[in-house]
Amino acid sequence: MQEREPRVLVTEDAIQDRVAKLARRISKDYEGVESLTLLGVLRGAFIFLADLSRQLTIPRRVDFIALSSYESESTSAGAVRLVLDVRAPLEGQHVLVVEDIVDTGLTLDYLLRTLQARGPKSLKTCVLLEKPERLKVKVPIDYLGFTIPDEWVVGYGLDSGDRYRCLPYIGVVEPQ
Ligand code: PRP
Repeated sequence: MQEREPRVLVTEDAIQDRVAKLARRISKDYEGVESLTLLGVLRGAFIFLADLSRQLTIPRRVDFIALSSYESESTSAGAVRLVLDVRAPLEGQHVLVVEDIVDTGLTLDYLLRTLQARGPKSLKTCVLLEKPERLKVKVPIDYLGFTIPDEWVVGYGLDSGDRYRCLPYIGVVEPQ
């Protein structure tokens, strides 16, 4: 049986337009800074980071971190753990976390606490999508792409069972 294509929620043009605007703002805000570390949260942020990083006009470098939610019954729901760490130390660096989505906020909350303890010179966040209806922990978002309703979104890095990540738009599918 042929599967249905995701319903378009944010078009490719709208994403590209927003990414360009975010890149201009970030480039302006960090003007004069020696180097900005763009810290992508794998795996969902890889496409957003790729597009954003190429449009910045300031000196920058790229690093990655990967987090995973505990899913076993023995740990509390919502607990997060680090599964891949950065390559270069963050102490004294200007760090901009690049995330695809803030859903409950638990992942970003954990990440910011972890990174803050490492003594960065500055720590900010750039998030493509936020879903306010699902938020459990309030997290600071310095640069935001879009606010979206509580739907299961895929594409532009986001997956459903590891599918749809490479769609150029944000679409909606039925939850798995
Ligand atoms: C997604 C997304 C965020 C997190 C947000 O990652 O990339 O990191 O969930 O959810 P939260 O606000 O409820 O914590 P996911 O665990 O799906 O992994 P992936 O990025 O590898 O797909």
